[in-house]
Amino acid sequence: MARLKVGVLISGRGSNLQALLDACADPAFPAEIALVISNVPGAHGLDRAEKAGVPTLTIDHKDFPDRASFDARMDQSLRAAGIELVCLAGFMRLLSDGFVEGWRGRMINIHPSLLPSFKGLRTHAQALAAGVKLHGCTVHYVTPSLDDGPIIAQGAVPVLEGDSEESLAERVLAVEHRIYPLALRMIAEGGAPGADPAVSLINPPPS
Ligand code: GRF
Repeated sequence: MARLKVGVLISGRGSNLQALLDACADPAFPAEIALVISNVPGAHGLDRAEKAGVPTLTIDHKDFPDRASFDARMDQSLRAAGIELVCLAGFMRLLSDGFVEGWRGRMINIHPSLLPSFKGLRTHAQALAAGVKLHGCTVHYVTPSLDDGPIIAQGAVPVLEGDSEESLAERVLAVEHRIYPLALRMIAEGGAPGADPAVSLINPPPS
């Protein structure tokens, strides 16, 4: 069976990318990572991809006059590599509506909170400030509104007495590494909740 061709966008350390690479290293896993793009030169995630033998590209947003031209270059590279699904894994740039629309139903993100709570940045600090007893992470389809879009998978952790932003982040991250590959498997096998029925991942995306 053909494996779903995945492109991963990163900006940094790439621990979620690593979890996806590890899952895809099993030939029985229904997806393969065919390209990793970083907008940050020298991002640690690029080394992880290279070690796994996955092609990488650095597309530095600073080399482009505006968001639209940067996004257009990424779009071009993803399509040239035959990518069918884009996974955002710690990609720290906002994407233009045009790019998001072009990958509607074919782009997912991992966010470190139980959405719809705590969108945006510093989610662990937000959770601590709110005094919640449960926190976690969410894999969701990407739509033009930030940290919105149909939820595919979530994982929860307890918030413990004396937790700091760092200790909570570490507990959540361990769960991120479990649910991202799980969500990818569900999509590749065609059983992901929230999937857009108008989009079939069996066919290549329209160019
Ligand atoms: C993760 O916490 C992810 O949820 C968020 O950014 C962080 C990226 O970490 N979107 P890493 O680069 O995958 O280690």
